[in-house]
This record gives sequence, structure tokens and C-alpha cells, in this order.
Amino acid sequence: MTGAPPFTNSPIVARYVDRTPGSAALHARAERVLPAGVTHDSRLMQPHQLAVTHAKGARKWDVDGNEYVDYVGGHGALMLGHAHPDVMAAVAEQLARGTHYGANHELEVIWAELVVEMVPSAEMVRFTSSGTEATLMALRLARAATGRPLILRFKGHFHGWHDHMAFGFQDHFDGTASTGVLPELASNVVLVDPDEPDELLAALETHGHRLAAAILEPTGASYGQVPMPASTVTLLREETAKRGIVLIFDEVVTGFRVARGGAQEALGIRPDLTTLAKILAGGLPGGAVAGRRDLLELLDPKAARGRGVEKVNHQGTYNANPVSAAAGIATLELLRDGSAIAKAHDYAATLRRRLNEVVKAAGVNWLVYGQHTGWHVFVNPEGLDLTAAAAAPETLGYRRIKAAKGHPAIEQLRLAMRRHGVDIAPWPGGPASAAHDESDLERTVQAFASSLEDLKAERVVDAHA
Ligand SMILES: Cc1ncc(COP(=O)(O)O)c(C=O)c1O
Repeated sequence: MTGAPPFTNSPIVARYVDRTPGSAALHARAERVLPAGVTHDSRLMQPHQLAVTHAKGARKWDVDGNEYVDYVGGHGALMLGHAHPDVMAAVAEQLARGTHYGANHELEVIWAELVVEMVPSAEMVRFTSSGTEATLMALRLARAATGRPLILRFKGHFHGWHDHMAFGFQDHFDGTASTGVLPELASNVVLVDPDEPDELLAALETHGHRLAAAILEPTGASYGQVPMPASTVTLLREETAKRGIVLIFDEVVTGFRVARGGAQEALGIRPDLTTLAKILAGGLPGGAVAGRRDLLELLDPKAARGRGVEKVNHQGTYNANPVSAAAGIATLELLRDGSAIAKAHDYAATLRRRLNEVVKAAGVNWLVYGQHTGWHVFVNPEGLDLTAAAAAPETLGYRRIKAAKGHPAIEQLRLAMRRHGVDIAPWPGGPASAAHDESDLERTVQAFASSLEDLKAERVVDAHA
């Protein structure tokens, strides 16, 4: 996610530039009309990002005809891989019927029924157009329900880009507003260290009576890159219940991925509200807030009137648009029995094991870790002994993991992996999908081994064996 200049005189960069002239040309054109030539901060990359023409299953192709095993996975939206035939058929069928009715339709009801069936805490659903909108609405519902102003959240956890959530994720860990955000708004957010349960308890003690909600990524920051101990989530559930604080699980990434019912099913913990997006809409735009009926009913004028409270406002041209609903339904129906999810989990477990074997054989002091479909590479800038972290990655802590993100080895690894036919997510690592198979595994392992040799040759990493 850096905009840092690439290494000069680097064969890894030079080979990437040689292989991707079409991507470079499109990037130059894009820079004239798109700030930084991108449309999402995490797509920013030096010397230039890939320009992709098409994708199928676990693979995608760039404008220069290079093929990649893909671990970006539509930023985590594509649990079934690219262009799954059933999802495409559902979309095509809906396209022929129209893209927007400006009215109610059956697909939104079926879609909501599937969410209620699969997500343990979901009693009702309100669709939005994105995960960002879902967390925005969840916070509004919590404030309306409690009449309290403050929100508690964890440093490093990502909840979209709206003003309440724009700081404390990758910068401004002191809780000050990032540029463009009102300081008054930031002063209503209580940021706590995810590694310090005592700090959490102290914040609840100090601010509890003014806290409307606590929101978190239940497996830890950025899809478990900074793993969160289940004991902290349990503690938070108990304490928020005691204090009348609305607990929001942000399952935009973990929903329908960690288990069919998301992280809440895996942890056996029920939040009050859940935010969903990504897999929910099968790779098309879409999001939702789901949860307790009494909270969702604040959006219902009759129910609100009955309780003598003001209704919560919510509009949105593209909420539950029929094409996203069709893709979402097709996707959830394929994930419903859990077998595709289990397949992706098995793939990721094997991949993590094999990549750690490669790391060891290369004599590089890194760690590949993760749970469920996740694989994350810790590039260990401080040269720590990683024996304890291999057994319990949460012992690395959020500061160390976040600090490692700026290490130059990461960008070099991404470029080298691309040369060897694999596109990984920026953290570095990726989510696996149910579309990844044996041939993707072998290609990834081989590409990782070759990339480590490239990095060693440039002295970006040292061998310690
Ligand atoms: C946990 C989490 N919450 C919220 C969001 C925001 O979702 P969207 O990009 O759909 O606005 C994301 C996106 O990556 C996310 O990972």
C-alpha cells in the first residue's frame, strides 16, 4: 500500500517493467485523469499497478497477456473465485430483466432470508451499497438506540473510509482526526489498543455510560493479520452486554468466509449488529446491516412511532439493487452447505504449511501465518526469533505487525511474485478461495521459492541458515 519509489537499479523492478508495458502505458494515461492513477488507496503501487483484462476461477490476465494466480480475490469479495458460472448465469438472467426498478422486488427478500438463515445473530437485514455504508448505518443505529455519543474501536481495525473510521487504521493512532475529518467527530471515537485487555477495561469503565457502540473485526485487524485472541472478544461481549453498549461485529470480510455464519458462528459469540459486504453480494457492489430486530426496527416508521422514538433515516439509490441481489443469492446458495468454505480453508492451511517450508529451505527468517482462508507473510524487520510466534502469531502484537508493513521487502516480493505468475495482496499474502486448486498451489509455492531467491540476490533479505 505504499507510494514509495521503487528500488533503483533493481533487477526485480526492471523485469516487472519489461513484462508489463501495457500496464505502464495505461497507468500513465490514468494518472492524467485519476489521482495517483488509481481508484482505491490499496491499489497504489510503484512503479505501476497491473491493468487486468479478464479473470476466471483463481486466475486473471493482464493487458500484456500475462497470467496470474490471484490472491487479491476482488479485495476479498470472491470466495468462489472469478466469474463462477452459476453467479454469472444469475447476473445475466437478471440483467435481461432490468438493473433497477426503483421499487421492491422478490430478490431482496430472498437475499435477506438467506442472511437470516446463515448468520446466527441476524433477525432482520437492511441492505446498503458497500461495507463502508454498512458500518456507517450500524453506528447510527447504535447511537439512536442508546442516545449516547461515543464509539469504541480498536487501533488497526478497518471499518471502511467514512469520517468516523478514517483514522486509527493505518495512521493517527493517537485518535486525532486525519485530514479532512472534523476534530469534533474524532473526539467522539475512543481508540483502544487491541493487545491490551486492561486498556479496554479501563476505557469501558471511564466511558461506558457514554458509549453507544463498540465495533471490531472479530478475528482481528485486516482479516486477522493482527490476530485477536478470542478471550478479548468474549470479554468485550460480556462487558458491552453489562453496560448496554451495542456490540457490532464488522464481518465485511469474515462473513460467509470464516464459517457460513461468519466469525460469530466460529467464535460462538452473538453480536447485537453485524455489518456485511463483499461475499454477501457475490463480487458486485452491496452491503448490509443485520442483527437484533429491535435495533433494525428503528428504520421502520411504524415501529419507531410505536416506541415513541424518532425513526432513523436511510436512503440509497443502489441499496439491494436486483443485479447485486442475484449475484449475492447465487453465491450464498453455493456457500450454504459449508463445503466450498471448508475446501478454501483446507487449501489455505496447506499453502501456509508449504510456504513456511519454502521460507525455511531458503534460510529466510519470515513467518507465514493465518487462519481460515488467510495467509499472511510477516517479513520480520527486527530479525526476531519467530519460534513463539509460529505457535501463537498474536504474540507478535499489532504494533510490530503494522510496523512491518512499510518494509521494502514487501513491494519487492509482490513484484517478484508477479514475474513468477502470482498476484498477491499488498499486506503481503491473501485470501484463498474455493476456486484455488492443486495447480494453483504448486505454482504459488514455486513462485514464492523463486521470488525469495530473487530477493536474496538483491540483498533485500538475508539468509540466516
Ligand atoms: C472489515 C471491513 N469493514 C469495512 C470495509 C469497507 O467495505 P467497502 O470497501 O465495501 O466499503 C472493509 C473493506 O475492505 C473491510 O475489510
